Amino acid sequence: MVSWGMLEKYGPYALVAGASEGLGAAYAVALAKRGFKLALLARRKEKLEAFAAELRGKYPVEIITCAVDLADFEAVKTFVSALDAEIGLLVYNAACAPVGLFKDIEEEQLSRIVAVNVRGPLLLARLALPKMIERKRGGIVLMSSLAGTQGSPRLAAYAATKSFNAILAEALWKELKPLGIDVIASCAGAILTPGYNGAQQAKAPGTLTPEQAAEKTLKALGKGPVFVPGGINKLARFF
Ligand SMILES: NC(=O)c1ccc[n+]([C@@H]2O[C@H](COP(=O)([O-])OP(=O)(O)OC[C@H]3O[C@@H](n4cnc5c(N)ncnc54)[C@H](OP(=O)(O)O)[C@@H]3O)[C@@H](O)[C@H]2O)c1
Repeated sequence: MVSWGMLEKYGPYALVAGASEGLGAAYAVALAKRGFKLALLARRKEKLEAFAAELRGKYPVEIITCAVDLADFEAVKTFVSALDAEIGLLVYNAACAPVGLFKDIEEEQLSRIVAVNVRGPLLLARLALPKMIERKRGGIVLMSSLAGTQGSPRLAAYAATKSFNAILAEALWKELKPLGIDVIASCAGAILTPGYNGAQQAKAPGTLTPEQAAEKTLKALGKGPVFVPGGINKLARFF
């Protein structure tokens, strides 16, 4: 059963950055079910448009798509600035997560990790804020990871950027709460997304479906700055 409270609190528009499959698509579905109008971003145009068409067929919501690389912030800014809609809810889902020893990861790839995982959420949140402040309401969801709660070998740079997102959310939660804006970092454990399946051989304990991770995170928005979806993952973070 879906509550309509979120739509009144943050709607009518939500932007999901990294939205054509996996967790990003699950966020889009969860928000469409709640009646949000959607702006969906991802790089692969055909995949994104096919997903948006499927969503329009199931839910009577307006959906705008933009095929863009989140590493290219100027392009993202051009799209967002041209949007007539005021973004009431921003979900920054995409991440660049190459697996391997730090010494083997090329400089270009390291810069890309920073552009997508750090610069993207930082600048997109800043870009969306003035309208949220004006409306005295809004929500920002940043995807962090359990990998960002400690040093993670073979994911060193990615894990460090996930830690950045959690720390950013903690401060923004405090700064923006009095202005009516909720911020959350979702410190997810393993989620069965195409990205996870491509990087892992086996299912880790506490693995969630994208739908479970998205629903739990959205329900936690407004209740605290950092959230760990799933009981086993909460325990893992504690220990
Ligand atoms: N999966 C896990 O087990 C897990 C665990 C903990 C935390 N997380 C976090 O959860 C989030 C989602 O994880 P995931 O890797 O599993 O991804 P996902 O949600 O399965 O998909 C990534 C989505 O983002 C888009 N995307 C990726 N890079 C992009 C870019 N540079 N510009 C625009 N769009 C981009 C992809 O489409 P295109 O390829 O077409 O661009 C796709 O739609 C990430 O922030 C990750 O750190 C995941």
